[in-house]
Amino acid sequence: MARFSGKVAFVTGAASGIGKVTAQLFAEQGAKVVVADINEADGATVASGIGEAAAFVALDVTSEASWQNALSQAETIFGGVHILVNAAGISPGDTIEDASLEHWHKIHAICLDGVFLGCKHGVPLIDRSGGGAIVNISSVAGMLGVPHLSSYSSAKGGVRNLSKTVAMHCTKKGYNIRCNSIHPGSIETPILAQVNHGVIDERQVQGRLKAIPMRRIGQPEEIAKPILFLSSDDASFITGTELIVDGGFTAR
Ligand SMILES: NC(=O)c1ccc[n+]([C@@H]2O[C@H](COP(=O)([O-])OP(=O)(O)OC[C@H]3O[C@@H](n4cnc5c(N)ncnc54)[C@H](O)[C@@H]3O)[C@@H](O)[C@H]2O)c1
Repeated sequence: MARFSGKVAFVTGAASGIGKVTAQLFAEQGAKVVVADINEADGATVASGIGEAAAFVALDVTSEASWQNALSQAETIFGGVHILVNAAGISPGDTIEDASLEHWHKIHAICLDGVFLGCKHGVPLIDRSGGGAIVNISSVAGMLGVPHLSSYSSAKGGVRNLSKTVAMHCTKKGYNIRCNSIHPGSIETPILAQVNHGVIDERQVQGRLKAIPMRRIGQPEEIAKPILFLSSDDASFITGTELIVDGGFTAR
């Protein structure tokens, strides 16, 4: 029997990059998948590429009403949700001196409020579906000080501790729900170009490669597979922890 047969996975940011590959892998391994994203055109294409096992649901992670609507659609379509992967994000860079309050709020709204709302409304749904797991995508930037990613590293640090708090809440309540965070290093997806507001600086790329002991950028599959691990029964005693997947970047 496939590893996720009988399970429903709800993946945000699933129109692109890590979320997209995660949704595809869940379906390959037997799950029904809700492809949730603000990008309706690409999200619908990802869902139709997967086929019958997937449904696209429009979601703006910054809006509580949008979350309530998307989760309720998921329940109607597939009868429940067992796995929630919060992968939606943006990463335009800023420094503590040049960041506007507006930019700070925008990054936190998508990268942190979005995860908060997903967990807040996801926990009761997963509980009444019989239990499962939440995986929140943070970043190595959520564990280190990153001068050119001031707002982003703050929001991602919040995701790390929010995940532990959700994990402890679920154990305290006796819910059969585990919650963990994943901390990718540099992964080859469209978000990488956002750090410099769309400009790819070759010197920065070389600098980035030099800083990664494995001397390469990771692939989305190399994050999606650990996400599936943390979502599966193989991780049945793992909750409230963080999994760093960065080619050795933070081990130096
Ligand atoms: N790629 C990397 O190097 C890297 C490193 C560390 C962490 N991450 C994190 O991984 C996650 C996935 O990023 P990715 O690399 O796949 O980037 P990506 O740009 O390929 O995908 C991000 C997705 O989030 C969606 N999104 C943005 N705002 C949204 C909103 N308001 N509501 C719903 N969806 C929204 C986008 O439409 C897009 O489909 C993000 O949380 C990112 O911060 C990525």
